[in-house]
Formats: sequence, structure tokens, C-alpha cells
Amino acid sequence: MNKTVLVTGGTGYIGSHTVVALQKKGFKVIVVDNLCNSSINALDGIKKITGEKPLFYKIDIARDKNALHKLFIKHGDIENIIHFAALKSVPESVKKPLLYYYNNLNGMTNILENMKKFQIPNLVFSSSCTVYGQPDNLPVTEKSPLRKANCSYGNTKRICEEIIADYLIVNQNINAISLRYFNPIGAHPSVFIGELPTGIPDNLVPYITQTAIGKRDQLRIFGNDYNTKDGTCIRDYIDIMDLADAHLAGLYRMIENKQKYNCEIFNVGIGKGISVLEIVKTFEKANNLKLNYKITDRRPGDIEKIYADVSYANKELGWKAYRTLSESLHNAWKWEQYLQKN
Ligand code: NAD
Ligand code: WQD
Repeated sequence: MNKTVLVTGGTGYIGSHTVVALQKKGFKVIVVDNLCNSSINALDGIKKITGEKPLFYKIDIARDKNALHKLFIKHGDIENIIHFAALKSVPESVKKPLLYYYNNLNGMTNILENMKKFQIPNLVFSSSCTVYGQPDNLPVTEKSPLRKANCSYGNTKRICEEIIADYLIVNQNINAISLRYFNPIGAHPSVFIGELPTGIPDNLVPYITQTAIGKRDQLRIFGNDYNTKDGTCIRDYIDIMDLADAHLAGLYRMIENKQKYNCEIFNVGIGKGISVLEIVKTFEKANNLKLNYKITDRRPGDIEKIYADVSYANKELGWKAYRTLSESLHNAWKWEQYLQKN
């Protein structure tokens, strides 16, 4: 079994946790990242957890085709790629659509081009639940209709899935699994790695932890007049280590030739809808503190409710999320405290 994996975006939030999971299973990991939204320090954090620093190349995979090509020449043993590298801010993508299309689509095509050139068989791609928009029926299965996203970021995820599908029709010796992540939260329990939001966070959990530590005055809960159990929006929040494990399950499926088709898609969530207020209450309970929050107007563009049907991933990948919400929110809080001290 070839155990060399190229991880693009491997110093980022999901990438760094997946590198840890890969190393724990004996994979040799090569990380490529341009550090536009992450820190090189993630590699030290990984080493503190696993005892091993992955090989690292600072390359912009969307813009520096030459450097990427040289990397594949140098590392002829790469047979697996996990492709995380992308820009991911929804509001930024609304303001700078071309940046998002350029970065995320060129990164994707450059990876695929090299897979063909260097006969690399296996790809795991980071897709997103954003491709479903607001679904008519819940939970969403992989067969649920896709909706046009209301931001360029979301479009790049759908288009990348389509690029992979088209390319694999004519390149049957390439295998790919796209994982549609729901909302990843938490940090590695050691808190040597975690999420590093720059500026004011858009996402709920970093906003909560920054409020709890005093970096933000107050959490705004965007709307409590939705048609949900307590009026606040519903999402499927998945622990980052469970999400990391899903990548390993995907990789093993391809390495062991267990795929039904060379191009497959799986939802990766916990399969349960959690409200914003439930997140706040669980955070308070798990960490024994009170959070300063208020209810405000709805955030434009928010989906009312979405959560995954994960039965296909459970059955076919033999993978299941098992960490609890309290555990994830406890680790998120420990990570925020670690960041303040370091
Ligand atoms: P992240 O920003 O922490 O990690 C992405 C990494 O990619 C960063 O380290 C960044 O520096 C790097 N990168 C971006 N463009 C690059 C380029 N052109 N060349 C080289 N490196 C580049 O984000 P994340 O949360 O870890 O997300 C990883 C992937 O998962 C992304 O593709 C994202 O779209 C997807 N995703 C994330 C979420 C989420 O909520 N975090 C949900 C669904 C899907
Ligand atoms: C979660 C809930 C907010 C902040 C985003 C991307 C999506 C995908 C997943 C990458 C919502 C509420 C939030 C705050 C709040 N990412 N909220 N106060 O919107 O589900 O999706 O991450 O692919 O593309 O859009 O995540 O964490 O921003 O919000 O009340 O300060 O928390 O309204 O209901 P979202 P989120």
C-alpha cells in the first residue's frame, strides 16, 4: 500500500487536523500551502502531537504551476492527494468574486492536471454543504438537488465537483471522493492545533470563544424568528477530528479499490440539526461560564436549517462521527485560551 499523501492547504484548520490523523496511521505526509490563511506554526503543533513534522513546501498552487510541477517531479512516490487549499470566506467572496474563482478553480485544475501527468490515482476533495443551498427536504442526502449558491465561494465548490466529474469521465484511472462537509468545529484535544480565524470571525464558534475570552463584547445571534424548534437557525456541527477521520476513510476506500464509481460524493456531518441557541447553551454548560449574547436581526443570506443524512457515508465509508458537541465546544474553548497565552 502506497502511503504517501500530498495535502494541499495542510497548514489550515481542517488540513492540519487531517495531517495528524494521517500521520497517526503511518502515512508519509507532504504539505503544500501558500500560508495566505494559515501559519507555518501549525507544523510545530502537528509535531508536538505526532512527534513528526511533515515535509512542507510554500507554493501557491493556483498561480505557481512551475513550482507545483517540480514538487511532483521531486516526490515521485505521491499516490494520494487531499485537496483542501482554497479561499473560504463567504462575505469576502461576495466582494471579490474573481479572486475566489481564480484561486479555487485554478488550484483545482492544476492539481488534476498533475494527477494525470504523474499518474496519481487518488484524490479527496473538500466540498461543502453550501452546494445544497436551502433544501426543500431534510435531512439532505447526496442525491438532494443542488442550488445555485448566493456567493462565489459556494459556486467554486459546486464547480470544482463538476470539474472533477468531467475530468474523471475521460481519465478513468483517476479516483476521487468529494466530501461535503457540514459545519466543522472544535480543535485537537491537545490544543496544539486549532482554527485560526483572521480578523472578526464570520463563523459561530470562533465568535463565541472570542466573546467568552473578551476579544469581542457580545455574540449576536442572528434571528430567533425562524421556523425552527427555538427560532434560531439549524446546522449540523461536526467535530474537527471526526471530520479528519472521514478523509482517512475516503482514502482507504480508494487505496483498497472499494469504490463503486471512480467519482463519488459523501456528506460528512453528524446527521443531526443543532440550533444556534443550543450551541450557546452547550458551550456555557461544557465550560461552566456565561456568555454575553443578544438576539439581533437575521443575517442576510443565512439558510434557515440544514443537516445531513450521513447514512451513505456510514455504510460505504465505514465511518461515523462519535465525538459529542460538549467535547467539541470544550476543545474550542481550550484552544481559544491557548491562543491567548501563546
Ligand atoms: P483554511 O483557510 O484554514 O485552510 C485552507 C488553506 O489553504 C489555508 O492554509 C490557505 O493558506 C491555503 N490556500 C488557499 N489558497 C491557496 C493556494 N492558492 N495555494 C496554496 N495554499 C492555499 O480553511 P479550512 O476551514 O481548513 O478549509 C479547508 C477546505 O475545506 C477548503 O477548501 C474549504 O473551502 C473547505 N470547507 C471548509 C468548511 C469550514 O467551515 N471550515 C466547510 C466546508 C468546506
Ligand atoms: C452558523 C449559524 C448563523 C455567527 C458557513 C459557510 C458555508 C460553510 C459552513 C464552508 C448561522 C449563526 C453565526 C454569529 C450567529 N463553509 N451565527 N452569530 O453560515 O452555516 O456556513 O460555514 O464551506 O459555506 O457559509 O456557518 O458558522 O457562519 O453560522 O448567530 O456571530 O450561526 O446565523 O445560523 P454557516 P456560520
